[in-house]
Amino acid sequence: MSIEIPEGLTELLQSFTVEVLRNQPGDLLEFALQYFTRIKENETRGGAFGNEHNSAGRTGKAVNFIEEAMQIDSENGEEDDDDEEFVAPVINRFVRRASVCAESYNPDEDEEEREPRVTYPKTDEQRQRLQEACKDIILFKNLDQEQMSELLDAMFEKVVVTGVRIIDQDDDGDNFYVIERGTFDILLNVEGTTRTVGCYDNRGSFGELALMYNTPRAATIIATSSGALWCLDRLTFRRIIVKNNAKKRKMYEAFIGTLPLLTSLEVSERMKVVDVLSTKVYKNGEQIIAQGDLADCFYIVESGHVRIAMKRSKSKNNTEDEEVEIAMCSRGQYFGELALVTNKPRAASAYAVDNVKCLAMDVQAFERLLGPCMDIMKRNIANYEEQLITLFGSQIAIQEPNA
Ligand code: CMP
Ligand code: CMP
Repeated sequence: MSIEIPEGLTELLQSFTVEVLRNQPGDLLEFALQYFTRIKENETRGGAFGNEHNSAGRTGKAVNFIEEAMQIDSENGEEDDDDEEFVAPVINRFVRRASVCAESYNPDEDEEEREPRVTYPKTDEQRQRLQEACKDIILFKNLDQEQMSELLDAMFEKVVVTGVRIIDQDDDGDNFYVIERGTFDILLNVEGTTRTVGCYDNRGSFGELALMYNTPRAATIIATSSGALWCLDRLTFRRIIVKNNAKKRKMYEAFIGTLPLLTSLEVSERMKVVDVLSTKVYKNGEQIIAQGDLADCFYIVESGHVRIAMKRSKSKNNTEDEEVEIAMCSRGQYFGELALVTNKPRAASAYAVDNVKCLAMDVQAFERLLGPCMDIMKRNIANYEEQLITLFGSQIAIQEPNA
């Protein structure tokens, strides 16, 4: 007797299994109930998962199941359940980030690919200033030479004066901005109350969220001095940066999924973390962080080891310092969070041992995305103090983040 396997069964079960493995739900039955209900709802709305429903029908190409799930949500103007709530900043301007969906990039559906390349002619002097302004922009870090030069060609200069509103919260996204000079406030309106949650001081970039995730602007940006910005139009940004992020997601999805620090983030939130990470490479012995410096980055070790060392006075009259090793970080561990959490200078130095690859995230992304991971970080910060007491014999206070 032959038993006919219904069309689509294999794909449906495979997709479900992948979801279970990725999410590791505590209650499998409840997870299954929600999962299949969601598929049915999507099917009813015209989009769908699985075999005959999947994106292959629409795009002619199989795509990653999770990405497809996110895309269907964004097409329907919906967001993940976890994205619905917006909690105002609590600790050190930490926010559970504004409501955005982790929309994926599908090159096959890419109309932008066919758009003509944008070029704004520039003098040598302008190009030099532009290159200088862009050299530390994390979103540009993993681009190849061709992508970088297309991007620089497409950027145009905008001079601003104090009080100019560069971005208004809830507007549609038009440009991405790189700061050449000037200071800018970041304002968030939550339930009718507007608060300044941070500022940019003569460096950095903003305006990427609305372009990356096709969402309204998540904050208002106002110039608090005169200054100059370099602007990149939405289409070029999406063609280059969002496409590059799709590659990054594939590369780092598995690694990011293993990090204990990020366990409290949903899969879609982890993907947003990947979007803002850049790879930094250091040679054996190179300094990554210098004790006492102002902080602008948070790091996760991808490969190699990072030695954390702290200065302590060698003599009683404090004239001589020696550096004592206090920790060693390996793959999957993080460092450089303390100064961002406490708003203080770097508490220790960090050095590469062997050749080291780190994933780095800038302070704004750290504050926006890692709020839900604060409990884990705080527990570790408490351990630092104990570790220092053991090593140095006396209490060295590390200021707790304002709870
Ligand atoms: P976008 O939403 O396109 O426009 C407003 C920008 O403000 C946003 O992208 C980010 O680049 C930037 N920004 C900085 N801090 C925050 C924050 N805490 N929440 C939301 N956006 C922020
Ligand atoms: P930050 O102060 O930003 O830069 C130095 C980093 O060293 C610090 O964040 C922590 O991530 C890391 N570190 C590891 N162990 C300790 C410790 N005992 N005290 C302070 N920082 C530590």
